[in-house]
Amino acid sequence: MSVPTRHVALVGFMGAGKTTLGEEVARRIGLPFRDLDREVEVALGTSIGEFFAAEGEEAFRAREADATVAALRDPRPAVLALGGGAITLEPVRDALRERALTVLVDVDPETAWQRVEGSGRPLARERTAFLALYEQRAPLYREVADAVARDADDVVLAAAAVHVERGALRRLGSLVPGDGPVALVSDAHVAGIHGMDAQLALAPRLAETHELPSGEEAKTLAALDRLWQALRLDRRGTIVALGGGCTTDAAGFAAATYLRGVAWVPVPTSLVAQVDAAIGGKTAVDLPQGKNLVGAFHWPARTVIDPALLETLPEAQRREGLAEVVKTGLLAGEPLWELPDDELVRRCAAFKAAVCLRDPRDEGERKILNLGHTFAHALEAAAGYEGVTHGQAVALGLLAALRLSGRDTGPVEEILRPKPVRVDRERAWRAMHRDKKAVGGELRLVLLDDDGPRWDVPVAPADARRALDALIAR
Ligand SMILES: NC(=O)c1ccc[n+]([C@@H]2O[C@H](COP(=O)([O-])OP(=O)(O)OC[C@H]3O[C@@H](n4cnc5c(N)ncnc54)[C@H](O)[C@@H]3O)[C@@H](O)[C@H]2O)c1
Repeated sequence: MSVPTRHVALVGFMGAGKTTLGEEVARRIGLPFRDLDREVEVALGTSIGEFFAAEGEEAFRAREADATVAALRDPRPAVLALGGGAITLEPVRDALRERALTVLVDVDPETAWQRVEGSGRPLARERTAFLALYEQRAPLYREVADAVARDADDVVLAAAAVHVERGALRRLGSLVPGDGPVALVSDAHVAGIHGMDAQLALAPRLAETHELPSGEEAKTLAALDRLWQALRLDRRGTIVALGGGCTTDAAGFAAATYLRGVAWVPVPTSLVAQVDAAIGGKTAVDLPQGKNLVGAFHWPARTVIDPALLETLPEAQRREGLAEVVKTGLLAGEPLWELPDDELVRRCAAFKAAVCLRDPRDEGERKILNLGHTFAHALEAAAGYEGVTHGQAVALGLLAALRLSGRDTGPVEEILRPKPVRVDRERAWRAMHRDKKAVGGELRLVLLDDDGPRWDVPVAPADARRALDALIAR
């Protein structure tokens, strides 16, 4: 499964904000934006209002259908804002089904009226008629929509095939795309907590269940070999991966390789996996030589995130995820860590989804997601991967990245409270150079400046060494 490449078509009533949202989403996911109302006006050579008055609605709709269908048939994917009435036209609805991910931008009728009253739009002259038209069209919008959005984050998530909803686990059966058989692959520990709910939700399609060992043990060739040999799915099948980042990484890699690739749906249950690991299509297992050395890019058919599953997550695991949340907030330039759980997960997931849609194969700006990680990997390696967790190491790494960026370290210190680790300084320094972000001996790091994150920033060895030493206890 490759990264989604269809158009993202925004539909909704007049005044829903499709143009404003469309511009923002296009910028965030790296696609061009096309405002079809504006394109139709250019094609008409006059304003929609004047054409309506002169030629009538039917003539206008015919021209609107031509322009909209032509835009949908254009093979270069774009974010399209459709005219409010375009979905009343059957050729448009057909083209949407074939060529686009269709997202309904939801708005309540009163808000819509306040926004368009007095705008001169031909169908927004009189309140009662406007509200009646809203009621008439509402079912049509719902019928064509693949997803419903309140804001740009919702649209980005839909474009990345990520579904965030409290209670989504119980609806899993209808959220796994397709109608083929499903193999449920769960973390052995999580299976005992949430496995039955997942099985019940998948019931009619559930063909087989498998367990992976909890934690990093799942990401071994031995565990993967057992899974490959136990799978019975055919090519129409889907692997559903229920667990933390270790389960989604390993089961995702099984999906990427089994029968040369079957569809998969991660259902992340840890905070790390909900805000990070289960998004963006990177799957991998470990080798004795290092972590994540064998893997594949394999974009999920859908990622189903149910923030309610975090309620059973132990506090220590939550803190692991909080390090990635703070990293995401620093990159986004917003204190996302202050949000209540459901919103925190939704916003962080949308941030990562947008970065991955812009750079699906990790060739450029996706590197920003490594903020603080070069230091973290060095500390973990120097500790022999014992005594310091990844989350603690990332917290320290963020501290170093902020100091080198000349920025306030307050949020990291207050939220993550990192403590210097007791490791060998020389070993950590050598490990930092072995990290894949060191090019020709020169360290290149992700740093933050006023315009946001920058990657591949060369850092003088003496500065990097000072920043690293400050993370290590005397
Ligand atoms: N693919 C990517 O882009 C990406 C990104 C970040 C991290 N990762 C990978 O993710 C892995 C770490 O993920 P993780 O921190 O989720 O580890 P994990 O999968 O080992 O889960 C942590 C622990 O929490 C338990 N657990 C998970 N959900 C639970 C729940 N809801 N209730 C109770 N217990 C629960 C698990 O059984 C496990 O013991 C690493 O291997 C890392 O390389 C991958």
